[in-house]
Amino acid sequence: KQILILNGPNLNLLGTRQPEVYGSTTLADVERDCAALAEALGVEVRFAQSNHEGELVDLIQDARQTANGIIINPAAYSHTSVAILDALNMFDGPVLEVHISNIHKREEFRHHSFVSARADGVIAGCGVAGYQLALRHMANLIP
Ligand code: DQA
Repeated sequence: KQILILNGPNLNLLGTRQPEVYGSTTLADVERDCAALAEALGVEVRFAQSNHEGELVDLIQDARQTANGIIINPAAYSHTSVAILDALNMFDGPVLEVHISNIHKREEFRHHSFVSARADGVIAGCGVAGYQLALRHMANLIP
């Protein structure tokens, strides 16, 4: 069971970026915690982060050969990117969407996510723990 955990723009700065919204945990911390959980669950995880829309599209295309499931926080591209939605629509396995903050409680422009039209599940507002919740669910979703 191979799971790709993909993070979009500005999440490389998690921990220092608006800590009042996103907390003080770094992306490296999140990845370490997810790697430990993956081992306990008996699944393999791979991590990728990009600030570039096209690179995220490439990574999702590659995942068709290399991953059974995708956990994605598309960050700001959630609200703008038909290209990322289209790429996810070519991926056959389960897709879970994670948002650290509750996008529905924030500015109106964050309320809609293009990716949610494809996601099998959406976790928002649970902080960085959302990645681990998604990982647990993903481990059950993948046959
Ligand atoms: C985010 C929410 C988005 O609106 C924002 O642009 C992000 C992070 C979240 O994890 O809460 O970059 O996806």
